[in-house]
Amino acid sequence: MWGMTNSSDTSTPADVPAASTGVSDRNQLNPLFARSGEATDFPLNRLPGSESLPETAYQIVHDEAMLDGNSRLNLATFVGTWMDPHADRLYSESADKNMIDKDEYPQTAAIETRCWKMIASLWNAPDAERAIGTSTIGSSEACMLGGLALKRRWQQARRAAGKPTDKPNLVLSSAVQVCWEKFCNYWDVEPRFVPITDEHRCLDGSDLDKYVDENTIGVVAIMGVTYTGVYEPVAKIAAALDRIQESTGLDIPIHVDGASGGMIAPFLQPDLSWDFRVPRVASISTSAHKYGLVYPGLGWVVWRTVDDLPSDLVFDVTYLGGHMPSFALNFSRPGAQVLLQYYLFLRLGFDGYYRVQKASQDVAVYLAGEIAKMPAFDLWNDGTDIPVFAWQLTKGHTDKWNLYHLSERLRLKGWLIPAYPMPDDLTDIVVQRIVVRNGLSRSLAESLVQDIADAVAYLDALEAPMPTEGLTSGFTH
Ligand SMILES: Cc1ncc(COP(=O)(O)O)c(C=O)c1O
Repeated sequence: MWGMTNSSDTSTPADVPAASTGVSDRNQLNPLFARSGEATDFPLNRLPGSESLPETAYQIVHDEAMLDGNSRLNLATFVGTWMDPHADRLYSESADKNMIDKDEYPQTAAIETRCWKMIASLWNAPDAERAIGTSTIGSSEACMLGGLALKRRWQQARRAAGKPTDKPNLVLSSAVQVCWEKFCNYWDVEPRFVPITDEHRCLDGSDLDKYVDENTIGVVAIMGVTYTGVYEPVAKIAAALDRIQESTGLDIPIHVDGASGGMIAPFLQPDLSWDFRVPRVASISTSAHKYGLVYPGLGWVVWRTVDDLPSDLVFDVTYLGGHMPSFALNFSRPGAQVLLQYYLFLRLGFDGYYRVQKASQDVAVYLAGEIAKMPAFDLWNDGTDIPVFAWQLTKGHTDKWNLYHLSERLRLKGWLIPAYPMPDDLTDIVVQRIVVRNGLSRSLAESLVQDIADAVAYLDALEAPMPTEGLTSGFTH
């Protein structure tokens, strides 16, 4: 009965010797999920009236979590789902650390600084000592901070010139991740979306002059578009902005959203000019919990120099009796992930990161190649930017099924591979995407290819079309 479960149960509190009552002896010994509380209901949306045994509460939560999908087969997420046993040990040892308590946990604070300085060097900051950065809870917060710095810099320049500051806008691809829509919404910035088209499948600098003006606080370039995994050509976008500056005088900075690519490109495409080597890039963000290989939630954002982060956005927190700058949306947040990032930097080094990312890319390129061989599919890209690729149904292949049906069939085998429509101006195209992460081995990938081939054979052999009622993408970017 709701709410009555444990007030009426006969369980013995954990600190009462089990031998003292016969009933609880049975409770503690019985391994068959027959303990009071396990055999009855807990209230779902109301705090239970009283305590329960830790074993009972643990089992209930553990069992409910078991109903989630298998994270290793989740090829929809970019977020890390595995760390090694040393990392797990470090995680449980440091789960109590609050990142904001820099005075109480000065070593964690120092390690945070070491990490973003390492990242600033990875991203070729001209002088890592003059750069400034911070950890965040993920890329969304990192992007918000990058966007806020752009907005404040623009406001300061406008005020200094005696011009109004009431109509800031941000130029970005229609294929941006939702965090940028949130940024524009929450901080009253007009988003100017450049639609993707068949000719321009990502933001590539063409037509930028139609979107930017004196109220543009910046342009967002994505290293690893969420929908498909392709890199936006940062250097080309910067060159377009250089031309605009020559003709109009407008000096518009770029924030690179490297949520995924920020931790891939330095290792797999070291010669690609996308980072602080491009002078117009003011700031870069990434998710440590994606290809940084750390459990959720950790992100990083780095500004080229301290001058790119307006000082009036930065607060002082006490640190070893002195002060430490803090620029964050949250106050308290976990410090353990920062230690995990440092552990991985020490554990893997440059070569180790290269090997892990290359292994993921090899699997992505193999999978893309096998899917390209199937007549049912047209590849959108081949996994050679970040280890992510998407495909669409070959025009005219079938009128009996679509990629949502394929996604459902693959789910029967445990694979989570979403299908979804592309953004403006390609909303009539539905694609399906695979994100290859550390842990999707070549042999698992071979099983997946077989499962896709079997599912396609089943769907192709249907005599009547699959029903389409209620068939929409439940997937959000
Ligand atoms: C390009 C891009 N930016 C930002 C984000 C948001 O990242 P996070 O989940 O770390 O907040 C994502 C997430 O997929 C992304 O792909």
